Amino acid sequence: MQVTMIGAGYVGLVSGACFADFGHHVTCIDKDAGRIAALRRGHIPIFEPGLVDLVETNTRQGRLEFAMEPTGIGDADAVFIAVGTPSRRGDGHADLTYIYGVVREIAPLLSPTAIVVTKSTVPIGTGDEIERILREERPDAEMQVVSNPEFLREGAAIYDFKHPDRIVVGSDDARARAVVAEVYRPLYLNAAPILNVSRRTAELIKYAANAFLATKITFINEIADLCECVGADVQDVARGMGLDNRIGAKFLHAGPGFGGSCLPKDTTALIKTAHDYGAQLRIVETVAAVNDQRKRAMARKVVAALDGSIRGRTIAVLGLTFKPNTDDTRDSPSIPLITALNDLGAVVRSYDPAGMEQAKPHLPNVIYCDSAYAAAEGADAVVIATEWEQFRALDLERLRRIMARPVIVDLRNIYRADEMQRANFRYLAVGRPDVEHSPTPPAANRQKSKRPAAVE
Ligand code: UDX
Ligand code: UDX
Repeated sequence: MQVTMIGAGYVGLVSGACFADFGHHVTCIDKDAGRIAALRRGHIPIFEPGLVDLVETNTRQGRLEFAMEPTGIGDADAVFIAVGTPSRRGDGHADLTYIYGVVREIAPLLSPTAIVVTKSTVPIGTGDEIERILREERPDAEMQVVSNPEFLREGAAIYDFKHPDRIVVGSDDARARAVVAEVYRPLYLNAAPILNVSRRTAELIKYAANAFLATKITFINEIADLCECVGADVQDVARGMGLDNRIGAKFLHAGPGFGGSCLPKDTTALIKTAHDYGAQLRIVETVAAVNDQRKRAMARKVVAALDGSIRGRTIAVLGLTFKPNTDDTRDSPSIPLITALNDLGAVVRSYDPAGMEQAKPHLPNVIYCDSAYAAAEGADAVVIATEWEQFRALDLERLRRIMARPVIVDLRNIYRADEMQRANFRYLAVGRPDVEHSPTPPAANRQKSKRPAAVE
């Protein structure tokens, strides 16, 4: 089939490359000339495991092309729209300027029976407005507008695209449903269920799913706070809950609050939609408010770890992206955390394997380092803010030798209390009992380390 993907950003590029890999002929259109030129040279502007190879193979085999202008769009069996929908400044509504601009631009070029599919996350009713614009511009045509939301996680986007839990197709038109089903046929042969629903229902499924995931995370984060008060361990609580099939184990990791390009934006946009219609979404409103507060409050944990004051102290923050395996720092919990640490007078050193360039404009007062150990050099505390693989097995002996004080604040719960005890760190995690540093290190440590533990 001939597929056109408008918007070669995160979603458009991953989806376009995967459709090409299914055997379709895909043209990715993007108005950003630099991006298209780079893509044609095989340079991928985003960090996503596996994407470079996927784009390279499919381009070489002639199934994937990049262009700035939507020429040839009239031959496409399906035209997907995947341009960004940022939060509008001021009111939190999704900004649809790009979407409607694209629709007006392509309307005269589309075949009279074109199937236009929105992949971008758009507020409920956007499909209706796209259809209205198309009817206005092309009164005689019989185009169909379908909602087909994506559920890709950054860092695992290709896997998610190829192994979806479900494919949601929002349209009441049989021909449109058949065309979209055909685009996805390779997956649905693997039994990924296609959910045929109305267009507005499809638009709402995306927001409801993300709001629910946000709620699940926020729920366990509040339970983690309670665990700290009562002396329970949130990881065991989450496991005990998650083994109940009705609840499920996923998205029950307590941490510094959710970030990223979707969960924060989509919860806010859903709340606005509810307000517009006079409906109430009190749970989602609370989730958004609790999450915002939580991100700011993480600095307090660091202050507590250093006995009440961080003024003049050096803090090493490991991880700037909102999660591992991405270079994305949008709404990353590290940003309010570091801003608060700076405001409280701390010197912040930081290292992230992929996100330092993106973080720099938001965090100018940070000393950016080349490795986790370089960041930890002379630090009074190390804060693990993102659970990158390479932070999971740090050489604790080495860390203790180079740090000014043996203090680790683990906001992602990636270390075990017993290993921190053995390495003689003061260790604060999320929703788990603290480990105290002992000025007289355990016998095993005394033998191994040449120097005594740093004095507090
Ligand atoms: C996507 C979805 O569109 C969004 O709704 C969802 O919530 C998150 O994922 P994303 O792919 O991350 O957005 O956006 P971005 O990486 O900003 O890519 C958008 C691309 O569209 C950019 O490359 C931009 O140049 C391009 N674009 C934008 C156009 O080609 N034309 C336009 O008019 C506007
Ligand atoms: C999310 C949705 O998962 C995906 O379906 C949708 O299409 C886009 O938005 P993404 O933003 O890539 O994907 O990341 P996700 O893995 O959902 O994580 C979002 C945030 O929640 C991260 O900051 C992550 O650290 C946090 N999180 C996630 C937790 O704190 N605990 C968890 O258990 C899971």
